[in-house]
Amino acid sequence: MPRYTEEQIEQVRAANDVVDVIGSYVRLKRSGSGYVGLCPFHSEKTPSFSVNPARQMYKCFGCGVGGNVLTFIMEYENYSFPEAMEYLAERAGIVLPKKELSAQQKREENLRMTLLEINRKAASYYYAKLKSPQGKLGYEYLQNRQLSEDTIRRFGLGYAGQGGGELYQYLKHEGYDDRTLQETGLFKMDERGVYDKFWNRVIFPIMDVNNRVIGFGGRVMGDAKPKYLNSPETKLFDKRRHLFGLNYAKQGKRKNMILCEGYMDVISLHQAGFTGAVASLGTAFTEQQANLLRRYTEEVLLTYDSDGAGIKAALRAIPLLRKAGISGRIVHMDPYKDPDEFIKALGAEAFQERMDQAENSFFFEIGVLRQEYDISDPEQRTKFIHGMARKLLVFEDKVQRDSYLEALAAKYTVRQEDLRSLVIRYANQMPEGYQEVMEERRQESRQAVKKREDGICYSYRLLLSWLIECPELYTKIKSVIQPVDFVDEMYHQVAELLYQQLEEGKQEPAKIINRFQDIEGQKQVAEMFQTDFAAEMNKQEQEKAINELVVRIKEHSIEHRTRNLTDMGELQELVRQKKMLQNPEKLHISL
Ligand code: GTP
Ligand code: MN
Repeated sequence: MPRYTEEQIEQVRAANDVVDVIGSYVRLKRSGSGYVGLCPFHSEKTPSFSVNPARQMYKCFGCGVGGNVLTFIMEYENYSFPEAMEYLAERAGIVLPKKELSAQQKREENLRMTLLEINRKAASYYYAKLKSPQGKLGYEYLQNRQLSEDTIRRFGLGYAGQGGGELYQYLKHEGYDDRTLQETGLFKMDERGVYDKFWNRVIFPIMDVNNRVIGFGGRVMGDAKPKYLNSPETKLFDKRRHLFGLNYAKQGKRKNMILCEGYMDVISLHQAGFTGAVASLGTAFTEQQANLLRRYTEEVLLTYDSDGAGIKAALRAIPLLRKAGISGRIVHMDPYKDPDEFIKALGAEAFQERMDQAENSFFFEIGVLRQEYDISDPEQRTKFIHGMARKLLVFEDKVQRDSYLEALAAKYTVRQEDLRSLVIRYANQMPEGYQEVMEERRQESRQAVKKREDGICYSYRLLLSWLIECPELYTKIKSVIQPVDFVDEMYHQVAELLYQQLEEGKQEPAKIINRFQDIEGQKQVAEMFQTDFAAEMNKQEQEKAINELVVRIKEHSIEHRTRNLTDMGELQELVRQKKMLQNPEKLHISL
């Protein structure tokens, strides 16, 4: 069941003017009856992004994005549909009714809220402590690590005092009971009493993408072990699903983001101006984290430590990124251990250079493989070449695989034909039918795209856009083309909604987009209304075009419906319509 009713969605959409909302993200300039600006979804120097107040829609003629105020927020903030609804409702001061929860769900929701509140208080407590005389040790430690006052505040760094029970005392005083406090993971409890988990450590609050504190990391200030202590998993804190720093790094779609190992690396990088840095939370990078990153970027620069463990970690992360559709590149930091040390030694500009030179992750993998062999020995060299051939199979796309093959052949002086025949040999050892299936799947997806682009759907888009632009056309069209004539399910739905609006003398395409709650659907609908129908044509040409369009849509519809006929009663109607088609005067639309 959808979370929001159509009325609620429409209320929120209507209360947020598209020009106001987009204007707060993009500098807009008046142009004719609308506004233009630089597109926030691709990089450009001359504005091709336009916002239309009458339609309450936006469209970029450069990269093709378009939609209404809800899709804009979804795209820009990387929000899900409900998140965009909540955000825009709040902006407009609309209170959305809460969903109905069971008693059990309510208890859990309450506990979660309380835990968040406790975490927030704990973070403030640690922060205040750092700034107090008792926090001197911690403060000096952070200063020694060259963190500025600004950075300390921004990341909310703190200090856990030496008493071992101070936070507990404070939170008890605030009125929380032991059972709740235990759920925070901030305390150790046994027969003898309750102790703070963190003491005499500098504290790194860990936040989710919405800036809510969900856990903590604490570092000793000397060489004691363990160096870092992290909150355990709690009802709030799932280490596999969060990334440290993502709340600061997220920002529409970034060209790339930096993935590193430690909290200190993220903080140093941000301080040096690399605000796209995040770190996994003291555990191996996960598939969920890769998918999370996919929402914000298409390329990840890996800055793992340059030791053996770091290389292993990078080798594990690369396939996860690849699987999530992200391309990875490796930033080399030698002779330094991590980004924090690198920047301290060589500065931000040098780091930027290393980023620019980051190595393609596939070449990195091959480079590591290469280290395993002594290639001056013919036996080992052969093994290495076989290894390369097997690795090349990760590329399903033949063109892509070939270009990597050529590059490797050149780099390691192997003959292309030799490498290629090995690749084919290993490919043939893949599960039976693999090659055919892959090839078929590729063709299918190519055809699907082509069909959408060239086929009848283009005609639908043209007609729908035309109806939006010239609503007076509706009365002339409606007796000839009905929503059933749009035989694609999605276009059919959209046509029905638009006809209904036009029947009532309205046209609100932005409202129709609401009906589709996933962003892919919304994008497709937005496109339907934004096809150029050559407004520069003169009346005569327009008339000719619209009549051709009508005939094309009608023919396709009759043919499709005849083919898929289930109801004999409909046959007569189809026969009647077919006759009409043979008699074009009857159909003719004059403008
Ligand atoms: P600094 O020494 O403060 O610069 O930290 P670092 O980030 O260089 O440390 P390192 O590369 O050793 O560790 C990277 C990350 O792994 C840290 O940010 C922690 O999240 C985690 N980590 C490091 N040491 C420990 C440990 O002893 N226990 C746990 N649980 N996690 C650790
Ligand atoms: Mn470090």
